[in-house]
Amino acid sequence: MNNSIIAPSVLNANFLNLKDEITAIEKGGAGLVHLDIMDGHFVPNISFGPGISALIGKATTLPLDCHLMISNPELFVEEFARIGSHYITVQAESTWHLDRILNRIRELGAKPAVSINPATPIENIQWILDLVDMVLVMSVNPGFGGQSLIPYCLDKIRKLREMKPNLDIEIDGGIKLDNILDAKKAGANIFVVGSAIFKTDSPETTCKKFVEKVR
Ligand code: DX5
Ligand code: ZN
Repeated sequence: MNNSIIAPSVLNANFLNLKDEITAIEKGGAGLVHLDIMDGHFVPNISFGPGISALIGKATTLPLDCHLMISNPELFVEEFARIGSHYITVQAESTWHLDRILNRIRELGAKPAVSINPATPIENIQWILDLVDMVLVMSVNPGFGGQSLIPYCLDKIRKLREMKPNLDIEIDGGIKLDNILDAKKAGANIFVVGSAIFKTDSPETTCKKFVEKVR
């Protein structure tokens, strides 16, 4: 089974203090920094784009885990590859040409990944599983941090783990200290954690607790 990794999402971090927030999760043992890119079209919220992502990349040694919740992701994968993204994740629902864009991301030198919304069946991605280095299973409807995990998403992870035992499976949304082991048991091995880390007094200490919990 793959190693467990905590991927804090900076969506709910203090952006006026971002450097310290990132240092905190580095010290807290995070394995990736998760960047939620939102365009106000694919999801009903706007976050930040490649410019801020590039600055974050320069401020950390952690690999960038770029989660594109945007329409027309084709227009942006080049830019996200250029800034040195480790994973570039596209939403399966956001493009007509999923196969093409995943191949393009690999061509650009990044690791392609695909994400599916809660209501999207895992069968929709069965034929492209060999093209990706990770599958992100959304466990909330994307757009906002601080929502509650939708339990049936764990069943999707369970099925996906059966379909491809060595796949890296990331879960994103509503992960807390008291449900992360349910997600691990279901088969996830990369855990996005947003508000449960950044909405605490010490993101560093909280991040360490998450790392310990899934060790
Ligand atoms: C939701 C984002 C998540 C979110 C996670 O649209 O993709 O990464 O920020 O935040 P929490 O952990 O607060 O649900
Ligand atoms: Zn995300």
